[in-house]
Amino acid sequence: MRLGIIGYGNMGSSFAKALKDKAHVLVYDISEEKRRKALEEGFGVAKEIEFLLEGSDWLFLAVKPKEVPKVLSFIREGLKDKILISTVAGLSLKRLEELSNTKRLIRIMPNINALVGRAVIAYAFGEGVSEEEKKTFLSLFSSCGSLFELDEPMFDSFTALAGSGPAFVFKFIHALALAGVKEGFPYETAKAIAIHTVLGSCELLKELGGHPEEWIVKVASPGGTTIEGIKVLEEKGFAGIIMECIRQTSEKAKRLS
Ligand SMILES: NC(=O)c1ccc[n+]([C@@H]2O[C@H](COP(=O)([O-])OP(=O)(O)OC[C@H]3O[C@@H](n4cnc5c(N)ncnc54)[C@H](OP(=O)(O)O)[C@@H]3O)[C@@H](O)[C@H]2O)c1
Repeated sequence: MRLGIIGYGNMGSSFAKALKDKAHVLVYDISEEKRRKALEEGFGVAKEIEFLLEGSDWLFLAVKPKEVPKVLSFIREGLKDKILISTVAGLSLKRLEELSNTKRLIRIMPNINALVGRAVIAYAFGEGVSEEEKKTFLSLFSSCGSLFELDEPMFDSFTALAGSGPAFVFKFIHALALAGVKEGFPYETAKAIAIHTVLGSCELLKELGGHPEEWIVKVASPGGTTIEGIKVLEEKGFAGIIMECIRQTSEKAKRLS
């Protein structure tokens, strides 16, 4: 499989690195500096987008939304039987089909955790993708993180939950770290404690399973310390705040797409 990546920014470079053992990756970016970076990082680089098109079986579109019409106007004639994967936020399969003149499309929505090969990725197939190609996609992209097939109307909610999600998790970690500072730890120590607490709790839930509430009950012993903190979260409406946060983010994603 020869995979041509268009745009070597955050997403393009992360996926190039995550996929390099499974595909022969070729890169094109409009910026000479980015092309040089891709070369230094061990990838084949096309100087012109036409060369990328010739040298690729599948294409991966990772440019900002405003660049998409221009890029697709260059390549639409050459797409023929290639598969086009788009990571462009808010760009529906229908709109992509109009711009590219092909139904051989896969829409994905990853999050920034792609930078460390731990993305959460939503995907939807266009009508022209065969069963065999769907399997190839799943096998390729499973090395980039966790995959969730979604109906397109759910993409905006997914964008809020998983796309913006890391920002909310970072906010929580920072809040824990600040609380640690208030207790007398230096910030860096408090941050490290917070990161490892979140990381370990996620690993525990993932490995041992069960409902989060069951684990809360295991941590919060009767009349103990943890229940005092849980009471504060309940009184301040923690779950309601998070639900409203995701709702507002999802509404905004809907308005933009
Ligand atoms: N970042 C995220 O967390 C995230 C999450 C989900 C989806 N996405 C989507 O992923 C796409 C890429 O985002 P990103 O954060 O990776 O953006 P980025 O870091 O700005 O990368 C885009 C790259 O494409 C290059 N480029 C611009 N015009 C081009 C053209 N005509 N042909 C080839 N390359 C061109 C840019 O070069 P210059 O820098 O010179 O302009 C830049 O290197 C976006 O559509 C975004 O909606 C991003």
